[in-house]
Amino acid sequence: MPKLVRAWDLPTRLFHWALVFCIISAWVSFEYAGKLGDPTLRWHRWNGYAILVLLVFRILWGFVGGSTSRFEAFICWPWAALGYLKDTLAGRHRAYLGHNPAGSWMIVALIAVVMAQAVLGLFTLEHNEVTAGPLQRLILDDEAMTKLVQILHGRGFYIILGLVALHVLANVLYQHLAKDKLITAMVTGRKPATAYEDQPEATGGHPLLALVCLVTAVVMVFGTITLMGGRIL
Ligand code: HEM
Ligand code: HEM
Repeated sequence: MPKLVRAWDLPTRLFHWALVFCIISAWVSFEYAGKLGDPTLRWHRWNGYAILVLLVFRILWGFVGGSTSRFEAFICWPWAALGYLKDTLAGRHRAYLGHNPAGSWMIVALIAVVMAQAVLGLFTLEHNEVTAGPLQRLILDDEAMTKLVQILHGRGFYIILGLVALHVLANVLYQHLAKDKLITAMVTGRKPATAYEDQPEATGGHPLLALVCLVTAVVMVFGTITLMGGRIL
């Protein structure tokens, strides 16, 4: 049994699985709103706020979280990602404890696209005009903009689905073909000790600090919406 080292702090793992849950719930709460007796999409909107809080939390955590969760640990130039992909395709596996250079671009894309989707939700109008996001009235007079936001919020979900499919496929391939147990590590937080290119073991990421980030994220999300004149219902 190889020695295991710490790879991911608990807050990052909780963030990840909570985000997965909320994305699924975003779809269910819209698609089955009628059957669930929620025509004004209350559940969907609260679910969207939860996603915004999670993302703002993750951005704050990217500055003060555990060593593998920090942006400075994984944000890299595109050519680093290309070089990594080239090596991988040539069969040269390069072991990373945190996000590898190619994976880190996928992570940034996922966070950016989900963030855009949630922000668009704040401004969107339900197609029967039964309900709307809390900031919809800011663009209500601009019919073309309202229509555009509606279309983008509808289509955005498919972009998320496409990225998630690629993300899950890559992780499953690593887990089973490259025998680099990324999925297990996102659950347990641990990986076998080896000569990783980035760092030997994750440090920092105290849950109390995460709690401070979470409270700050809640204040930032609801504070910004309120300051912009939105009613959170
Ligand atoms: C809605 C679906 C999903 C979204 C939006 C999503 C998003 C993300 C994000 C943002 C991260 C970065 C974690 C961080 O540093 O905070 C991540 C990492 C990761 N995700 Fe997902 N994820 C999704 C589904 C899944 C599923 C279903 C699996 C497992 C089969 C998975 C496995 C992983 C793994 C293993 C990592 C770490 C990758 C690495 O070691 O570099 N994800 N995901
Ligand atoms: C990442 C977070 C979110 C996801 C993945 C998401 C996903 C979706 C999806 C798939 C639809 C159906 C679009 C269609 O087929 O026309 C929808 C509609 C809607 N969403 Fe979201 N949403 C998110 C966040 C939000 C937020 C934060 C709000 C407001 C607080 C919101 C408000 C609405 C409204 C009012 C509709 C109805 C639009 C229509 O009927 O065309 N969403 N959302």
